[in-house]
Amino acid sequence: MRVTLGVSGGIAAYKAAEVLRALQRQALDVHVVMTEAATRFVQPLTFAALSGHRVITSVFDESGPPMEHIDEGQAAEALVIAPATANILAKFAHGIADDFVTTLYLATRAPVLVAPAMNVNMWDHPATQANLEILRQRGVRVIEPGTGELACGMIGAGRMAEPETIVEAVLHVLGHRNDLAGETVLVTAGGTREALDPVRFLGNRSSGKMGYALAEAAQSRGAKVILISGPSAVYPPANCEIVHVTTAEEMREAVLSRMAEATLLIKAAAVADYRPVAVSEQKLKRTGPMTIELAPTEDILAEVVQRRRPGQLIVGFAAETENLMENGRNKLLRKGADAIVVNDVAGENVGIDADTNAATFLTLSTAIEMPEMPKRKLADRILDEILALRRPKQMVMELDGLPHTAGVEEEVIPARHAVIVEQ
Ligand code: CTP
Repeated sequence: MRVTLGVSGGIAAYKAAEVLRALQRQALDVHVVMTEAATRFVQPLTFAALSGHRVITSVFDESGPPMEHIDEGQAAEALVIAPATANILAKFAHGIADDFVTTLYLATRAPVLVAPAMNVNMWDHPATQANLEILRQRGVRVIEPGTGELACGMIGAGRMAEPETIVEAVLHVLGHRNDLAGETVLVTAGGTREALDPVRFLGNRSSGKMGYALAEAAQSRGAKVILISGPSAVYPPANCEIVHVTTAEEMREAVLSRMAEATLLIKAAAVADYRPVAVSEQKLKRTGPMTIELAPTEDILAEVVQRRRPGQLIVGFAAETENLMENGRNKLLRKGADAIVVNDVAGENVGIDADTNAATFLTLSTAIEMPEMPKRKLADRILDEILALRRPKQMVMELDGLPHTAGVEEEVIPARHAVIVEQ
């Protein structure tokens, strides 16, 4: 979905870059427009680089199409002004259209949100409050400023709302789904590290991007999220509880101690399958060829399935480089998860460390192809399919060797009790 972020000329303009990032983390395509005064605080280049789009600052910009305010007004699915100065609020209230942002306000039919930021006296002034009232009555959503120390040194109302609050308001007007409200989603992400000595470890290239995208998507759809993460350089999603772990055993302990709280568990982490039997207390010295003895780690996913409580959904990932479907299906059956997201980790632009990914969402009865897309978008697709598992469905399966038509099933049938009948 496309959102236009209007930046007007106040000191809080620098915070608009954070708002832009936070909106992008919700898989929104953000285009930025600025007033002339805003460009004195922050260079348009900053927003162009972050958004990946040209920043419009003038109605007379010859590098764009002639009726750009109309085009932009029609393309935007929401217009959010952050920060909104007293001046721009006054212009909006009185229909003054003397630059791109104010002209766009009149030209768009998209919902408009304003996040005011100004000195407390300017905020309290009857003129500003009257203008806000006009805007509210016209359906403009005012994201109330916070109270605290202002850039001018005074204390009071006028601090622009936090980026998360602005994003929440934008998602609300976009009618964003809230279909995970009331759920607790436990997500594992990143790779684990198994120490060899004080400075070396066995690890893998997992970045955590897919797991973090899932955590963020679940959180934005209303879930409480517990993110159990191996070391990752990725910016952590806002408003998720993060439990940092390093080794497979630490991840296991964290998952087992928190799994009872979860209604849905998504195991996106690339957990080490082996750890060195002995960890040297001192740094290992170079002494010619070396053999490292490894011991298998516990399979956390399989253990979680064994300990699941009724109603809990469990979804695993399968990182594969060959025979994707066959290996994925075997993992689904072997581990007993409700679904496995099969990833080709050898392809270009997909899998480990990439920003995009493609996957197959595999259950006992379906294989849903998800083509290459940004990981955050894929996260929403995966959540859609996970939620679909809860919908009543017609299933043909074989129980204990006897063909059986299950009819309407409210519960997902654990894999260990069912095998698919080819039809
Ligand atoms: N997994 C786990 N604990 C492990 C290894 C893997 O919980 N010790 C989980 C992963 O988080 C993932 C799923 O199992 O959800 C599959 O992981 P993957 O590495 O693809 O499979 P493995 O079970 O390790 O099998 P293999 O390495 O032989 O492909």
